[in-house]
Amino acid sequence: GDPHDEAPRADIAVIGGSGFYELLESAQRIDVTTPYGAPSDAVHIGRVAGRRVAFLPRHGSHHDLPPHRINYRANMWALRSLGVRQVLAPCAVGSLRRALGPGSIVVPDQLVDRTVGRVQTFADRGAAHVSFADPYCAAGRSAVLKAAAEAGVPATDGGVMVVVEGPRFSTRAESQWFASAGWSLINMTGHPEAVLARELALCYTSIALVTDYDAGVGRGEGVSQDEVFQVFARNVQRLKDLVLKTVDLIDRERTCACVSALDGMETPFDLP
Ligand code: ADE
Repeated sequence: GDPHDEAPRADIAVIGGSGFYELLESAQRIDVTTPYGAPSDAVHIGRVAGRRVAFLPRHGSHHDLPPHRINYRANMWALRSLGVRQVLAPCAVGSLRRALGPGSIVVPDQLVDRTVGRVQTFADRGAAHVSFADPYCAAGRSAVLKAAAEAGVPATDGGVMVVVEGPRFSTRAESQWFASAGWSLINMTGHPEAVLARELALCYTSIALVTDYDAGVGRGEGVSQDEVFQVFARNVQRLKDLVLKTVDLIDRERTCACVSALDGMETPFDLP
């Protein structure tokens, strides 16, 4: 039949963050609708290293959506409905540690949720309490670290990312408090994205690019939006290369715990 009649599918998705609005050459544009409304933008599907990859810009293609206005549920639902099982999630983060300067790439292993008033579940009825002890996919994290090692890109293995509501940056006192708790990175979009992925039994792997020292670190001025976007722009090509190399290293077979996130649970929805 006409190839255009076939529903386009993907195995792996990349959600681009601030300053990361495209990834794929000669990609097919797909407008996806979900029971939760529209995702941040159309999804583009293309091929990378023999794999079908979906790309979705988290803030919309013109950066219209601030962190608290993103429809995280629609985004994750849309990706899952296209066949995606692994989500690579690059994002801009502030650093809460002197040793992690702007330009550093970190693969976080933990998350602290300091958002307020964001919908963070698909399970509005019934008992479906997913485990979230380890919020990120172990297989995805290994693939990123391996890709970085092979490409000679320094990447830090592990870190706690605190996700704040925003859109404002943190006060010096808040930032010092987060740092003294032992947390290393700060961001505004890492949650509820991560838990919504888990509720759909999707693998989810965060790849953090440090764009600034947060207000509590050092004697600086505090963070400016300008600084965040400029540092991101200088490093985005390195990040894209890392993401593409990671795609190549993601196993086709899923053996991680994410696969069975919903085993034994009565979800009030059928997985798309
Ligand atoms: N994203 C990038 N830098 C940030 C910071 N310092 N605080 C919160 N989110 C950020």
